[in-house]
Amino acid sequence: MCWLKTVVISFMVSAVVGSRDFPPDFKFGAATAAYQVEGAWNISDKSASIWDSYVRRHPERIHDGSTGDIACDSYNQWKKDVEIASNLGLDFYRFSIAWTRLMPSGFPHTISEDGKKYYNELIDALLEKGIEPVVTLYHWDLPQSLQDLGGWANPLVSDWFADYARVVFSLYGDRVKTWITLNEPIIFCEIVYNTAMHAPGILSAGVGNYICNKHAMLAHAKAWRIYDEEFRPKYNGKVSLSNQILWLEPENENDVEITELTRQFMVGMFAHPIYSKEGGWPPVIEKIIAEKSKKEGLPKSRLPTFTQEEIDFIKGTYDFFGFNYYTSRVVKPAKEREPIGPWPFAGAPDLDIILSVRPEWKPAATSWFYIYPEGLRRQLAWLKEQYGDIEILITENGYASYDGGLDDHDRVQYYKEHLEQVLLAIEDGVKVTGYTAWTLIDNFEWSDGYRSKFGLYQIDFEDPLRKRTPRASAHYYASVIKNHSLDVDTKITDEL
Ligand code: NOJ
Repeated sequence: MCWLKTVVISFMVSAVVGSRDFPPDFKFGAATAAYQVEGAWNISDKSASIWDSYVRRHPERIHDGSTGDIACDSYNQWKKDVEIASNLGLDFYRFSIAWTRLMPSGFPHTISEDGKKYYNELIDALLEKGIEPVVTLYHWDLPQSLQDLGGWANPLVSDWFADYARVVFSLYGDRVKTWITLNEPIIFCEIVYNTAMHAPGILSAGVGNYICNKHAMLAHAKAWRIYDEEFRPKYNGKVSLSNQILWLEPENENDVEITELTRQFMVGMFAHPIYSKEGGWPPVIEKIIAEKSKKEGLPKSRLPTFTQEEIDFIKGTYDFFGFNYYTSRVVKPAKEREPIGPWPFAGAPDLDIILSVRPEWKPAATSWFYIYPEGLRRQLAWLKEQYGDIEILITENGYASYDGGLDDHDRVQYYKEHLEQVLLAIEDGVKVTGYTAWTLIDNFEWSDGYRSKFGLYQIDFEDPLRKRTPRASAHYYASVIKNHSLDVDTKITDEL
């Protein structure tokens, strides 16, 4: 009987601990974005993007008054990026294309030879190293020329974006099989228009954010449909968008309903039109904004409606769910117009809530960042519950510190704890197929400038060549990738 006891005990232990190995086809990557790393902002025929203009007009809105003019100089140092991506053992590298580098006028009649060559070389070099390129079409750097025509508030923007997407698909679709159309519309619509603290710096709370959101949904859908009709038959790739989501939980049991409502604001406004069976805005949100608008004496809702044709056009335009996760919040009701707390997101003017954090969630660098790994697993479960058994690719997750040193134990811990939650989510039955570390190298962190560091690799911003040096977290991540498992030492000193 003794053997039986041993088997039962070891079964119980493995059931409790679970497997620390990732499924065989699970993929690991790391990400960057053009404006944050490329530099070379006015090289060759590249035109200015809204971020190029914004950092010049509003240096006071960037923590250290810095710009992305040089950033990590990846425009010149890209071979080093490929080399370190390869040293890490990445399955894929997610980067974005700068619209202004490829199509300087914003329109498809001018394609920059230098821009075209830059991304061609980068893609080819990655493939030579066996690294899959995962390409984002829009990571917040709209051509300034299109902003001058209204940018994301102009209904034509979805056609401009679709034309740009077609050019990119036709240039690189033979080699790029995973595409992200838009990165985080919640930021480039909600944060932009509710706070003006990101480019183009226009304040239009409760109006501009919703107009932008509608046009973003249409832009994404047009790009997806172009791919589906013109490129999928020959290239057979996947196209979706990436949404940043803060996991939200009720402060206490009385706040369950308002928390679910807030989730519909935060997630649903960017996912319901695409991923739900009915399509369109989440009905409950549509109703709230319509009522508020009426109370304000407006003849129409501030939230622009979709026609039935648009609803059908947008619905189902996905191949997976791109999910960026960093942090979580606790929700409770507020009195009307009481300040929302540290995250001015969807519904800031329309939802009477207060967001806070639990005292035990440790802060990271930057004002918005509190650490709650379990939020990742819970959010993954919620996504499955809401939108069904869809493939989910974690397109960003990472840790910010003010300390730029190499011994980044906190970052190692962050990755370990979040990857544990990914494994648990997989055990829960959520179809998570990959994980992307944000970010490969320290870079320009938008309104935080170069103050907060997210990199697996440290960048020496004093060095004209922007030397890249692996941190402890790079060693750890490389080891997780190599072993395809979390059963690895967190203190690893292998050469990278
Ligand atoms: C999400 C954005 O996509 C990325 O550009 C940014 O640097 C990270 N969050 C960290 O804030």
